[in-house]
Amino acid sequence: MDGRRRGGYNGSRSCATPSILPRAVPAFHYDDDTLCAGRVRLADIARDVGTPCYVYNAEVIRDRYRTLDAALGGCPHALHYAFKANSALAIVRLLRAEGAHADVNSGGELDVALAAGYAPRQIVFTGVGKSRDELERGVELDLHAINVESRGELERVAAIAARRGRRARVALRVNPDVDAATHRHITTGTRGSKFGVPRDEAVELARWASRQDALALVGLHFHIGSQIVRTEPFDEAAAIVGSLVAELASHGVGLEHLDLGGGLGISYEGGQDEPAIARYAAVQAAIARRLKLPLLLEPGRVIVGPAGALLARVVDTKLRGDRRVIVLDAGMTELVRPALYGARHRIVPVMQGALPGRTADVVGPVCESSDAFGTYTSLPDDCDVDALVAVLDAGAYGASMASTFIRRPLAPEVLVDGDRWSIIRRRQRVDDLVDLET
Ligand code: LLP
Repeated sequence: MDGRRRGGYNGSRSCATPSILPRAVPAFHYDDDTLCAGRVRLADIARDVGTPCYVYNAEVIRDRYRTLDAALGGCPHALHYAFKANSALAIVRLLRAEGAHADVNSGGELDVALAAGYAPRQIVFTGVGKSRDELERGVELDLHAINVESRGELERVAAIAARRGRRARVALRVNPDVDAATHRHITTGTRGSKFGVPRDEAVELARWASRQDALALVGLHFHIGSQIVRTEPFDEAAAIVGSLVAELASHGVGLEHLDLGGGLGISYEGGQDEPAIARYAAVQAAIARRLKLPLLLEPGRVIVGPAGALLARVVDTKLRGDRRVIVLDAGMTELVRPALYGARHRIVPVMQGALPGRTADVVGPVCESSDAFGTYTSLPDDCDVDALVAVLDAGAYGASMASTFIRRPLAPEVLVDGDRWSIIRRRQRVDDLVDLET
């Protein structure tokens, strides 16, 4: 199916009014006190598909891709969308139709990229622990670049390519020792972290690679972390990138591109992301222009994060002391970010209530204390059992990090496009799980 195809949607009732989010193109807004994506009521989706369920707004994904792409306008570039954020086939096809290239992090994501129609030369293969099989495939497919993370991996790629009579295109991932000022679990560019090769080993390794017949050293790769909301870490990394490229040039080692990874954060409080996108693009484009190299970026979250919500239903409410507890039918199995990083996602009612919100702990149904979204006043007091709620900004690292803990089947995914919507992944059945077993 082509990413541009709009077929196969179910119709739905229309609504269109002001947004609850001050974003340029908001993914969700209220009309008649009812939460909508585009002109589709989330309540209609919940009625037909059930909960929990992920809902994405295609218009917002396109808009955010175009915003970043346009902000890099003056600089030769390719946006290699980071599949790890959300690799639903319909979404990566939609992005391919926009002109996106792919950043894959596993053999599985590579398969999905190929199935979605990305050409091997549109794919970069990242990842700190690629297996021999994954490297063989990367070499065989002649990917745009295998982003190599260590001396050993570089040697393995060279040996595979030599055996196959190939010249593998590699980019060396360098760890610049820059603190991305983000959560420690998603900080990847500091000294001692498992990612990339240290700055002080990079030149020697790159020179070695450039001398191998079986290798084409096409680029340098950096990725300092994720959910980065300040430009200073990118500035700091840029200075190191610049000095490295200059040092390599002085040794006669030229490059075809500069891959500055992903990492731009979003406002989980719902603020405008566009200024941040423009500032980020300016910093990244400036370094590429100065070094006269085409720029590759690997954005994930910034493209799809705000485009998605996790639609859930209240399954129980109770009082613990004077505290209200609201139990949802969605939790850490569908969105692990709160449990893993203490992340806070806004939660809003699908039907705006008559009563003001009272402080409540919103939790998931899983048998872990960490299965909790946090304390909210955003849910009205009449948001009771069976009421629908939406956990916002769940488009990135929601479905892609989901698990089937306590045999909870993977939730379905729905894509809204204007006044149409379609199920892009059906709900998993327990039978699908049990089928794998003897
Ligand atoms: N490139 C590389 C090499 C990466 O490791 C990542 C993310 C990206 C690109 C895309 O980063 P983004 O633009 O989405 O920040 N599960 C975490 C995020 C993990 C990010 C891992 N690497 C979360 O939910 O916050």
